[in-house]
Amino acid sequence: MKAIQVNASRPYQVLLGTDLLPTLGRQIREVTGSGTAVIVSDTTVAPLYAQAAEESLISAGVRALRYVFPAGEQSKSPPVYLDLLNFLARNHITRADCLIALGGGVVGDLTGFAAATYLRGIPYIQVPTTLLAAVDSSVGGKTAIDLPAGKNLCGAFCQPSLVWCSVDTLDTLPAPVFRDGCAEVIKYAVLYDRDLFAYLEETGLDFCREKVIGRCVELKRDVVARDEFDRGERMKLNLGHTIGHAVEALSGFRVSHGQAVAIGMAVVARAAGCPDRDRIVSILRQFGLPAETDYTAQALFESALADKKRAGDTIHMIVPRAIGDCAVVAMDVQDIKPFIEAGL
Ligand code: NAD
Ligand code: GLY
Repeated sequence: MKAIQVNASRPYQVLLGTDLLPTLGRQIREVTGSGTAVIVSDTTVAPLYAQAAEESLISAGVRALRYVFPAGEQSKSPPVYLDLLNFLARNHITRADCLIALGGGVVGDLTGFAAATYLRGIPYIQVPTTLLAAVDSSVGGKTAIDLPAGKNLCGAFCQPSLVWCSVDTLDTLPAPVFRDGCAEVIKYAVLYDRDLFAYLEETGLDFCREKVIGRCVELKRDVVARDEFDRGERMKLNLGHTIGHAVEALSGFRVSHGQAVAIGMAVVARAAGCPDRDRIVSILRQFGLPAETDYTAQALFESALADKKRAGDTIHMIVPRAIGDCAVVAMDVQDIKPFIEAGL
C-alpha cells in the first residue's frame, strides 16, 4: 500500500492499494473515531461495493448507514443534496460521525459538500471508484453541487479526513468512463511530467494503475499544498477545461467531461503553437479520446464566456508551452475568439 501525505489546512493521507475495502472500517475508526458512518453512493456503485464497505465498518465496531441516489451528474443537484441532509438529520448524525463518499466524482463532490455544510461541518472520507476520482476529484477538497445556471456553482473547500483508494474497484468501470479518467491523467502529464507522458505513450491504456494514480496524486498534492484555495497555481489544473466546459455545455452534456477536456487540451495546444502539439493530439487519439470538435469558434467563445473562472473581462487560459510546462495566461475576452479559431 502506498501512502501519500497531503499537507492542506486539514492534513490527511491518500492510501492507495489493492483489495483495501475489507480494512476500510478499521482505518476509519483510527482516523475519525466515529461511531456511525454513512456510506453515500449511487445506484451503480452501491450494488457493487457498498456491502463490502458495510461489512468492514461493522467488523470494526462502526455502525453503518447507507444513502443511495440515482447515478449521474443530474444528481449533483440541490434536491438530492437537501434530501441527503434530511436523511442525516432524521438519523441523528452528529459531528462525532462521518460520511463516506463511495463512488466517482459525482458522489465525492456531493458528499463533500454535504459534509462541509451539515452541522457546519462533519468529517468525510473519499473512497474513489472511478479513475477521474482517484487521480483528481477525491484529493484537494473541492466540493460542489450544480445549479440550473451551471456546473459546480455552489460549493466549498473542505478537505476529507482520508482518501482510501482501492484500485481493484476500477475493474468494473465501463471503458468510456475509464477513458474519461485517462483525459485527466494525460492532463497531469502535459502540465507537469514529461516522463509520465512518455510512459503513457509507451503503455497506452495498459498502464500500471497504481503507479500512474500515485504519480498524479503526488502532483496534485504538491499543487494543493501551494495553493489550496485556487488563487493562483491551482488554476493550472483547468488545462483544457475552459474550451472543454464550452463543448460539454453546447452538446447538452452528451459529450462527456473527459472527451470535452481532451478536445480542450488539443485546441489550446494548437492555438498556442505548442511545439509538442502533435504528440499531445496523438496521445489523446491513442487513448480513444477526441481532439477535434465541429463547434464553431463563435459558439465556443459565447459558451466560454459563461465559465465561472471568468473574472470581469479576463479569462485565465492554461496554455501548454511544452509537455511538462504550462502557463496561466490572463486573456482579454476579445482575444479569446481568435485564439480558439487558431486551435480548431
Ligand atoms: P461519476 O461519478 O458520474 O461516475 C461515472 C459513472 O461511472 C457513473 O455512472 C457511476 O455510477 C459509474 N461508476 C463509478 N464507479 C464505478 C465502478 N467502479 N464500476 C462501475 N461503474 C462505476 O463521474 P466521474 O467521471 O467520476 O466524476 C465526474 C464529476 O467529478 C463531475 O461532476 C465533475 O464536476 C467532478 N470533478 C470534481 C473535481 C474536484 O476537484 N472536486 C475534479 C474533477 C471533476
Ligand atoms: N480539479 C481541479 C482542482 O482540483 O482544482
